[in-house]
Amino acid sequence: MATVREYDSYIQQQTLRAELTAASVKNMKENIFPQFYEMIGDEPINQLTKEFYSRVYDDQKLASVFSSSTRSEAQSNLFAFLTELLGGPRRYTELRGKYHRLVGRHIAYNIDESAARRWLANMDEALHAVPAFAANSYLLELLLDYFSYTAYWIVFGKRTAYMKPGQPSGGNTVDTGRIW
Ligand code: HEM
Repeated sequence: MATVREYDSYIQQQTLRAELTAASVKNMKENIFPQFYEMIGDEPINQLTKEFYSRVYDDQKLASVFSSSTRSEAQSNLFAFLTELLGGPRRYTELRGKYHRLVGRHIAYNIDESAARRWLANMDEALHAVPAFAANSYLLELLLDYFSYTAYWIVFGKRTAYMKPGQPSGGNTVDTGRIW
Protein backbone atom coordinates (compact mmCIF):
# COMPACT_ATOMS: atom_id res chain seq x y z
CA MET A 1 0.00 0.00 0.00
CA ALA A 2 1.30 3.40 -1.00
CA THR A 3 2.22 5.84 1.72
CA VAL A 4 0.38 9.13 1.94
CA ARG A 5 3.44 10.91 0.56
CA GLU A 6 3.72 8.57 -2.46
CA TYR A 7 0.02 8.84 -3.11
CA ASP A 8 0.19 12.61 -2.78
CA SER A 9 2.86 12.90 -5.46
CA TYR A 10 0.96 10.50 -7.73
CA ILE A 11 -2.21 12.63 -7.66
CA GLN A 12 -0.08 15.70 -8.05
CA GLN A 13 1.34 14.35 -11.31
CA GLN A 14 -2.14 13.40 -12.49
CA THR A 15 -3.89 16.68 -11.82
CA LEU A 16 -1.58 19.63 -11.37
CA ARG A 17 -0.66 21.70 -14.41
CA ALA A 18 2.15 23.54 -12.73
CA GLU A 19 4.23 23.65 -9.59
CA LEU A 20 1.76 25.50 -7.44
CA THR A 21 2.17 26.31 -3.80
CA ALA A 22 -0.38 27.20 -1.16
CA ALA A 23 1.13 30.70 -1.10
CA SER A 24 0.84 31.26 -4.85
CA VAL A 25 -2.77 30.07 -4.90
CA LYS A 26 -3.60 32.20 -1.86
CA ASN A 27 -2.17 35.18 -3.69
CA MET A 28 -4.34 34.44 -6.74
CA LYS A 29 -7.46 34.23 -4.61
CA GLU A 30 -6.80 37.26 -2.47
CA ASN A 31 -5.09 39.67 -4.84
CA ILE A 32 -5.46 38.67 -8.47
CA PHE A 33 -8.87 37.08 -9.16
CA PRO A 34 -10.92 39.77 -7.34
CA GLN A 35 -9.76 42.35 -9.89
CA PHE A 36 -11.65 40.70 -12.75
CA TYR A 37 -15.34 40.86 -11.91
CA GLU A 38 -15.61 44.55 -12.61
CA MET A 39 -14.19 44.03 -16.09
CA ILE A 40 -16.04 40.80 -16.92
CA GLY A 41 -19.40 41.01 -15.14
CA ASP A 42 -21.97 38.25 -14.69
CA GLU A 43 -22.71 37.18 -18.24
CA PRO A 44 -19.43 35.48 -19.22
CA ILE A 45 -19.36 33.66 -15.87
CA ASN A 46 -22.92 32.52 -16.46
CA GLN A 47 -21.94 31.33 -19.95
CA LEU A 48 -18.92 29.54 -18.51
CA THR A 49 -20.98 27.58 -16.00
CA LYS A 50 -23.44 26.61 -18.77
CA GLU A 51 -20.69 25.55 -21.18
CA PHE A 52 -19.01 23.61 -18.39
CA TYR A 53 -22.05 21.77 -17.08
CA SER A 54 -23.39 20.96 -20.56
CA ARG A 55 -20.09 19.10 -21.09
CA VAL A 56 -20.10 17.55 -17.62
CA TYR A 57 -23.65 16.19 -17.96
CA ASP A 58 -22.74 14.69 -21.37
CA ASP A 59 -19.58 13.11 -19.98
CA GLN A 60 -20.20 9.41 -19.35
CA LYS A 61 -17.13 9.21 -17.16
CA LEU A 62 -18.67 11.72 -14.75
CA ALA A 63 -22.22 10.35 -14.87
CA SER A 64 -22.00 8.45 -11.58
CA VAL A 65 -20.43 11.43 -9.77
CA PHE A 66 -23.21 13.81 -10.83
CA SER A 67 -26.10 11.33 -10.64
CA SER A 68 -27.54 12.88 -7.48
CA SER A 69 -27.21 16.52 -8.60
CA THR A 70 -29.48 18.56 -10.80
CA ARG A 71 -27.84 20.51 -13.58
CA SER A 72 -29.57 23.81 -12.83
CA GLU A 73 -28.62 23.66 -9.15
CA ALA A 74 -25.05 22.69 -9.97
CA GLN A 75 -24.86 25.61 -12.41
CA SER A 76 -26.15 28.14 -9.94
CA ASN A 77 -23.79 26.88 -7.21
CA LEU A 78 -20.77 27.23 -9.46
CA PHE A 79 -21.97 30.59 -10.81
CA ALA A 80 -22.30 31.94 -7.26
CA PHE A 81 -18.87 30.57 -6.36
CA LEU A 82 -17.06 31.91 -9.43
CA THR A 83 -18.60 35.39 -9.27
CA GLU A 84 -17.39 35.61 -5.67
CA LEU A 85 -13.96 34.24 -6.57
CA LEU A 86 -13.57 36.90 -9.26
CA GLY A 87 -14.44 39.74 -6.89
CA GLY A 88 -18.19 40.04 -7.45
CA PRO A 89 -21.07 39.85 -4.99
CA ARG A 90 -20.62 37.35 -2.16
CA ARG A 91 -23.35 35.10 -3.50
CA TYR A 92 -21.75 31.80 -2.58
CA THR A 93 -21.20 32.87 1.02
CA GLU A 94 -24.84 33.95 1.17
CA LEU A 95 -25.99 30.66 -0.33
CA ARG A 96 -23.75 28.32 1.64
CA GLY A 97 -22.64 30.29 4.66
CA LYS A 98 -18.95 29.62 4.05
CA TYR A 99 -16.69 30.16 1.10
CA HIS A 100 -13.48 28.25 1.73
CA ARG A 101 -14.68 24.69 2.15
CA LEU A 102 -14.48 22.98 -1.20
CA VAL A 103 -12.80 19.78 -0.03
CA GLY A 104 -15.46 19.27 2.59
CA ARG A 105 -18.21 20.10 0.10
CA HIS A 106 -17.01 17.32 -2.23
CA ILE A 107 -16.28 14.65 0.34
CA ALA A 108 -19.59 12.83 -0.13
CA TYR A 109 -19.01 12.32 -3.89
CA ASN A 110 -17.07 9.53 -5.46
CA ILE A 111 -14.24 11.66 -6.86
CA ASP A 112 -10.95 10.09 -7.87
CA GLU A 113 -8.08 11.33 -10.03
CA SER A 114 -9.69 10.24 -13.27
CA ALA A 115 -12.85 12.22 -12.37
CA ALA A 116 -10.59 15.18 -11.58
CA ARG A 117 -8.94 14.91 -14.99
CA ARG A 118 -12.35 14.85 -16.72
CA TRP A 119 -13.54 17.83 -14.63
CA LEU A 120 -10.43 19.81 -15.58
CA ALA A 121 -10.65 18.85 -19.28
CA ASN A 122 -14.30 19.98 -19.41
CA MET A 123 -13.43 23.23 -17.67
CA ASP A 124 -10.52 23.82 -20.04
CA GLU A 125 -12.86 23.42 -23.03
CA ALA A 126 -15.57 25.58 -21.44
CA LEU A 127 -13.10 28.40 -20.75
CA HIS A 128 -12.00 28.29 -24.39
CA ALA A 129 -15.65 28.43 -25.52
CA VAL A 130 -16.39 31.75 -23.78
CA PRO A 131 -14.77 34.71 -25.56
CA ALA A 132 -14.17 36.80 -22.41
CA PHE A 133 -12.01 34.00 -20.99
CA ALA A 134 -10.59 32.65 -24.26
CA ALA A 135 -9.30 36.12 -25.14
CA ASN A 136 -7.67 36.63 -21.76
CA SER A 137 -4.88 34.07 -21.66
CA TYR A 138 -3.51 35.46 -18.40
CA LEU A 139 -6.78 34.91 -16.51
CA LEU A 140 -7.44 31.62 -18.29
CA GLU A 141 -4.09 30.11 -17.27
CA LEU A 142 -4.44 31.32 -13.70
CA LEU A 143 -7.92 29.85 -13.43
CA LEU A 144 -6.75 26.50 -14.78
CA ASP A 145 -3.92 26.49 -12.27
CA TYR A 146 -6.29 27.33 -9.45
CA PHE A 147 -8.79 24.65 -10.56
CA SER A 148 -6.02 22.04 -10.85
CA TYR A 149 -4.76 22.87 -7.40
CA THR A 150 -8.22 22.66 -5.88
CA ALA A 151 -9.03 19.43 -7.74
CA TYR A 152 -5.79 17.97 -6.41
CA TRP A 153 -6.80 18.76 -2.83
CA ILE A 154 -10.30 17.40 -3.36
CA VAL A 155 -8.91 14.05 -4.54
CA PHE A 156 -6.16 13.97 -1.96
CA GLY A 157 -8.55 14.87 0.86
CA LYS A 158 -10.96 12.17 -0.20
CA ARG A 159 -8.53 9.31 -0.82
CA THR A 160 -6.40 9.79 2.26
CA ALA A 161 -9.44 10.24 4.49
CA TYR A 162 -7.74 13.45 5.47
CA MET A 163 -11.30 14.62 5.92
CA LYS A 164 -13.97 12.13 6.82
CA PRO A 165 -17.48 11.52 5.50
CA GLY A 166 -19.99 12.85 7.98
CA GLN A 167 -17.83 15.91 8.46
CA PRO A 168 -19.19 17.78 5.45
CA SER A 169 -18.10 21.23 6.45
CA GLY A 170 -14.56 20.06 7.04
CA GLY A 171 -14.82 20.98 10.69
CA ASN A 172 -12.95 23.79 12.36
CA THR A 173 -9.67 22.01 12.86
CA VAL A 174 -8.90 21.07 9.29
CA ASP A 175 -10.28 24.31 7.87
CA THR A 176 -7.81 26.45 9.79
CA GLY A 177 -5.29 28.04 7.48
CA ARG A 178 -6.52 26.16 4.45
CA ILE A 179 -7.28 28.12 1.33
CA TRP A 180 -9.35 25.87 -0.91
C1 HEM B 1 -11.97 17.20 -8.88
C2 HEM B 1 -12.98 17.14 -9.73
C3 HEM B 1 -14.36 17.60 -9.32
C4 HEM B 1 -15.51 16.87 -9.37
C5 HEM B 1 -15.65 15.46 -9.94
C6 HEM B 1 -16.56 17.70 -8.82
C7 HEM B 1 -17.88 17.29 -8.63
C8 HEM B 1 -18.85 18.03 -8.00
C9 HEM B 1 -20.19 17.57 -7.72
C10 HEM B 1 -20.74 16.18 -8.04
C11 HEM B 1 -20.84 18.58 -7.12
C12 HEM B 1 -22.31 18.63 -6.68
C13 HEM B 1 -23.08 19.40 -7.73
C14 HEM B 1 -23.90 20.53 -7.16
O1 HEM B 1 -23.40 21.65 -6.98
O2 HEM B 1 -25.08 20.29 -6.89
C15 HEM B 1 -19.92 19.68 -7.02
C16 HEM B 1 -20.21 20.89 -6.45
C17 HEM B 1 -19.38 21.96 -6.48
N1 HEM B 1 -18.12 22.04 -7.01
FE1 HEM B 1 -17.10 20.48 -7.73
N2 HEM B 1 -16.05 18.92 -8.48
C18 HEM B 1 -14.72 18.90 -8.77
C19 HEM B 1 -13.84 19.95 -8.64
C20 HEM B 1 -14.20 21.24 -8.33
C21 HEM B 1 -13.34 22.38 -8.39
C22 HEM B 1 -11.88 22.33 -8.85
C23 HEM B 1 -14.07 23.46 -8.04
C24 HEM B 1 -13.71 24.92 -7.95
C25 HEM B 1 -12.55 25.39 -7.70
C26 HEM B 1 -15.41 22.99 -7.71
C27 HEM B 1 -16.44 23.77 -7.28
C28 HEM B 1 -17.66 23.31 -6.87
C29 HEM B 1 -18.65 24.11 -6.19
C30 HEM B 1 -18.54 25.58 -5.81
C31 HEM B 1 -19.74 23.27 -5.93
C32 HEM B 1 -21.02 23.60 -5.17
C33 HEM B 1 -20.83 23.01 -3.76
C34 HEM B 1 -21.98 23.31 -2.84
O3 HEM B 1 -22.05 24.43 -2.34
O4 HEM B 1 -22.79 22.41 -2.59
N3 HEM B 1 -15.44 21.63 -7.92
N4 HEM B 1 -18.72 19.33 -7.59
